[in-house]
Amino acid sequence: MEVIITKDYDEMSKEAAKIIREQIVSKPNSVLGLATGGTPIGTYKELVRMHKEEGLDFCKVVTFNLDEYIGLPPSHDQSYYYFMWENLFKHVNINPENVHVPAGIIADFEAYCNWYEEEIKKAGGIDLQLLGIGGDGHIAFNEPGSSLTSRTRIVTLFEQTRKDNARFFKSIDEVPYFAITMGVGTIMEAKKILLIANGKKKAKVVAEFIEGPITSMITASVLQLHPNCTVVLDEEAASELKYAKEYRWMYENKNRIKDFQFK
Ligand code: GLP
Repeated sequence: MEVIITKDYDEMSKEAAKIIREQIVSKPNSVLGLATGGTPIGTYKELVRMHKEEGLDFCKVVTFNLDEYIGLPPSHDQSYYYFMWENLFKHVNINPENVHVPAGIIADFEAYCNWYEEEIKKAGGIDLQLLGIGGDGHIAFNEPGSSLTSRTRIVTLFEQTRKDNARFFKSIDEVPYFAITMGVGTIMEAKKILLIANGKKKAKVVAEFIEGPITSMITASVLQLHPNCTVVLDEEAASELKYAKEYRWMYENKNRIKDFQFK
């Protein structure tokens, strides 16, 4: 796992957007896995700027979102579909046919979840998956106790997650109880993972998932097993890491290998 520690939210967002830009430039028809929540808003803003000012081209990019609240129609201003269009899609030249956000209103849950998994496979798998992290260590909506090999399915949200996310709704009563989410196993199949986290509130869980044991109690901890995972943090979120100094040192020196010569 590569850990990059940046100064603040703004720098974290720029660093994450740079990694996504590299992915799109090196493979214009990249399949991106995308996340919602407060954390990626700055990253999406920076990607929009790169599109407008530098011509970053999304015309062949394909996207799959991680999750959606069950019961919210796409027009609901707290649906993840709405979030994605407001924060990214409507500002860039993405082909709407290439956008996939799981539906929140579904007749046959099982068939729909299988279909979503199949669509990811048909697209060739996810090249780069962007992730945030919940206060309890969840990725997407894989709450503590989720199987580390789980697939796309319907889950019940923890009460704390409903409370955490209530800040975006008019009241907690409006926060759905259920969600559709890619599973941990689905996420782990992405070729590259990029997890971002900021703020003091995430410091403890960030230290736990990077430096603690792998456990389904903190689903993000399974990322320790992923061969190509980058974590971009701000200083506050990195403040409880035991090896912060070493991560910085490794990051600052990583380009030296390019000049390395065998004598
Ligand atoms: C939700 C989402 C996650 C996200 C988490 C953290 O639970 N399902 O994908 O990572 O919130 O959100 P925030 O970035 O607002 O802290």
